[in-house]
Amino acid sequence: MSSRNFSNQSLFIPEVSQCSLFDDLKEEKQVLKISHLIRTNSKKQYFTSSSKNKTGFFKIQSRRYLGNKYKLLNFISDIVNEKCNAYKSICDIFAGTGVVGHHFNDKNIKVISNDRLESNYVSNSCFLASTDINQEEIVQKFEYLNSLIARRENYFSKHYGNSYFDLENAKKIGLIREEIEKISISEQERNILLTSLIYALDKVANTVGHYDAYRKKMDNYKPLNLLIPFIDFRKNINNNVYCEDANVLIRKIDCDILYLDPPYNSRQYCDSYHLLENLVTWKKPKVFGKAKKMDRNHLKSHYCLKTALNAFRDLIENASCKHILLSYNNTGDSKDGRSNARISDDEILNVLKMRGKVEIFERNYQAFNAGKSDPNGNCERIFYCKVKNNL
Ligand SMILES: C[S@@+](CC[C@H](N)C(=O)[O-])C[C@H]1O[C@@H](n2cnc3c(N)ncnc32)[C@H](O)[C@@H]1O
Repeated sequence: MSSRNFSNQSLFIPEVSQCSLFDDLKEEKQVLKISHLIRTNSKKQYFTSSSKNKTGFFKIQSRRYLGNKYKLLNFISDIVNEKCNAYKSICDIFAGTGVVGHHFNDKNIKVISNDRLESNYVSNSCFLASTDINQEEIVQKFEYLNSLIARRENYFSKHYGNSYFDLENAKKIGLIREEIEKISISEQERNILLTSLIYALDKVANTVGHYDAYRKKMDNYKPLNLLIPFIDFRKNINNNVYCEDANVLIRKIDCDILYLDPPYNSRQYCDSYHLLENLVTWKKPKVFGKAKKMDRNHLKSHYCLKTALNAFRDLIENASCKHILLSYNNTGDSKDGRSNARISDDEILNVLKMRGKVEIFERNYQAFNAGKSDPNGNCERIFYCKVKNNL
């Protein structure tokens, strides 16, 4: 079984400085006092810093996300090691948090990571896209954003304050979001700062891990704090990150391993993560109802609708790859029907068998499902297909 080495070794030399890049920014902000700068040595590998640095780090898995496969990485790895010889590329086409693609990320492996939601595209780009950003400057920007004091109400606090977030945090989130747009000098820098904001939100949100609803009681206040993402830039040189419908993208790419983790029931991810999508796209649309959701019609996934089987068949027919791994749960019949799987096991097998021999692997585990019980006894399955007629 392969395991990632998240070595935290310090490669950067701290240095004292009194200067600020942001002295001329708006008066609403606290004067920034950067106690030191972080300078890289010649090998720019990780964001990292000495223990004196005020801003800590977070890893890609430090986030609550429905259906995320972080706890199943060893299971997926075992199947890949057993079945997929000498692979050079892997496509995580329903990437969500991106932990699966990230797990296989290495200098000699090409990771293609894709998700229909822009909030996931931003964080997948942050952790997996190749970049040449100025690390010294961006560390200063983190400290600057953390130092902001929000006095006025803004779009975010008006809609999400005193519900999904404490009002103070909501005002700060809105202010930080505005500033990220102003201070980012490249798309990659913006993606890194936005990712930090997405992960920071998750730590202070008055929710059970998604934004379908907020908790009635606001009893867990913590101040919002941006951390720096732990990225190993050396491994990202071959990767591509996309924000497309999987059925559109599949026609444009090829890979050795295609990992599929589509939604399997009628619960749309754009409903559960509308707030992050609104924050990232920042078009400030009207929001509706108690849950304050924006219009999401353009984001609805076929995999959550009656058209799921057609979409799945189309995806498999057009996949140019050597191996297919599909995560798909069958949670049985639930009372409200919303948790029922959209595609039956027989249908999955019939479709996959068009491309080659299929095996099913099972493992028990405790999923992140926002506190609901799993009627299937926490058994996770992976359908493996060895493709014999690659396109
Ligand atoms: C079960 S989650 C994937 C979780 C992921 N494996 C992880 O570990 O975080 C399914 C993902 O598919 C995305 N999605 C749904 N329909 C899609 C489509 N048609 N094309 C691309 N992504 C889609 C959703 O936004 C969601 O993030």
